[in-house]
Amino acid sequence: MILCAYLAGSVSSAVLVCKLRGLPDPRTQGSGNPGATNVLRIGGASAAAMVLLFDMLKGAIPAYIGFKLGIDAVWLGVIAIAACLGHIFPVFFGFKGGKGVATAYGAIAPIDGYLTLLLIVTWIVTLLITRYSSVAALATALLAPVYTWWLDDRFTIPVAMLSTLILIRHKDNIKRLLKGEESKVSRKRRQQP
Ligand code: G3P
Repeated sequence: MILCAYLAGSVSSAVLVCKLRGLPDPRTQGSGNPGATNVLRIGGASAAAMVLLFDMLKGAIPAYIGFKLGIDAVWLGVIAIAACLGHIFPVFFGFKGGKGVATAYGAIAPIDGYLTLLLIVTWIVTLLITRYSSVAALATALLAPVYTWWLDDRFTIPVAMLSTLILIRHKDNIKRLLKGEESKVSRKRRQQP
């Protein structure tokens, strides 16, 4: 299950969706991150929504199967981490992947629906207030272990590990935020060529 989760995570939805839609490779445009936020910049809302859905599913499916098989809490956490590691260091894409946010939320969903809801609400509220996707991800990653400790302490350590991975992967975003160079998520429509 751990290997399957890693392999599922290694399928880069952002690169594949962009290829299918005839869009530029997200690794060479915008922030260079193969994730939904960057695909939103490059290709607009529908392409980004597809990436978000697939990135969440590749975390959710292995975690759901593990949950249904009755795998215990610690190993479910390891499966969730494996899916995120696949997304971050994808074996099929030269080990250069994304930041693991959507895959982490997807992997947590079958394990604890209330926690996932709280994470998504935190992400959306922070995004609406700041208009920075990265700040929304950072705030949610910081709060996730606290929420988990409150809702289901068995998962606090794996969720804290996922949060640590996500925080580390946002180091360039943090630098850009400090320099005032981070790009906001705007409502503007993508310009047609
Ligand atoms: O989930 C990724 C997001 O937090 C930041 O994406 O493209 O702005 O680096 P990006």
